[in-house]
Amino acid sequence: MSQVDNPQRPPMIDFHGVCLSKYFTDNWDNVKNFNARPDDILIATYPKAGTTWVSFIIDLLYFDQTCPERQMTVPLTQRVPFLEIALPSQPSGDNELADKMITSPRLIKSHLPIQFIPKSFWENNCRIVYVARNAKDSAVSYYHFTRMNYVQPEPGDWGTYLNSFMNGKGGFWCLGPGMTMSTTGGKGNKHIQKFTTFCDFLGLSPSAEELDKIKVTTMFDNMKQNKMISITSKMMDEEVSPFLRKGKVGDWKNHFTVAQNEQFDEDYKQKMKDSPLFFRTEV
Ligand code: A3P
Repeated sequence: MSQVDNPQRPPMIDFHGVCLSKYFTDNWDNVKNFNARPDDILIATYPKAGTTWVSFIIDLLYFDQTCPERQMTVPLTQRVPFLEIALPSQPSGDNELADKMITSPRLIKSHLPIQFIPKSFWENNCRIVYVARNAKDSAVSYYHFTRMNYVQPEPGDWGTYLNSFMNGKGGFWCLGPGMTMSTTGGKGNKHIQKFTTFCDFLGLSPSAEELDKIKVTTMFDNMKQNKMISITSKMMDEEVSPFLRKGKVGDWKNHFTVAQNEQFDEDYKQKMKDSPLFFRTEV
């Protein structure tokens, strides 16, 4: 017996050439006219790239010191609302909600492909944090998420889903321009360097103690225990698969056959050959 409010899975819509759920397009008029402010931070990700993790880290970086009660009382989905989603159980970042966001900067997340990001973000030169993950791990994570998330059509078995992911039918822009291999396996100084640059980019200079605290707070197991982080959407059935599922790099190796891996590599190489965002990475 499903736990979700409405176990009907609406079909995907072809939205200007991108396969999207109606829940991401119903709000389009608001989204298109969103009034970004110059200090807004947009967290832009392909689904399952680590949006929740990075949103939480950025929220802590900005507000843990000045507003610690926020962490105890306000769910992360409200601290960092979606720009585009129009679900009854999750707030959206349209202007009405954004006007109620009293923090400065406002933190807003989006899965929209770059061509749909409202022009006010560009006009105001807002900071955009783009999160990328190994595309194979994103595909696996998205498969399990789609099984439990009634916003999207039934994914079928892994092989069926992987095909639709590669054909751009798995949601959002799937495997196409804009999706990158990430460098999440960074180690030692390289990793710290990146994080320092990241804080500079956000205009922040947290102390070593603050960073240590954030590191512990945002560990996978701690996030799983945190009631303000767990997703509570009525469209998701956590008995099918938990929202914070495994939190590991390389789970794709437990899903891809050798043939699927070769096919994916070839497809990826073709589709990404002209992308300036293409990084090779070891996983
Ligand atoms: P898995 O399904 O591979 O476990 P998003 O927030 O964009 O939907 O991404 C969800 C993915 O990020 C899930 O991947 C989830 O487990 C992982 N994730 C979230 N918080 C994490 C953390 N603190 N450490 C590692 N992975 C994390």
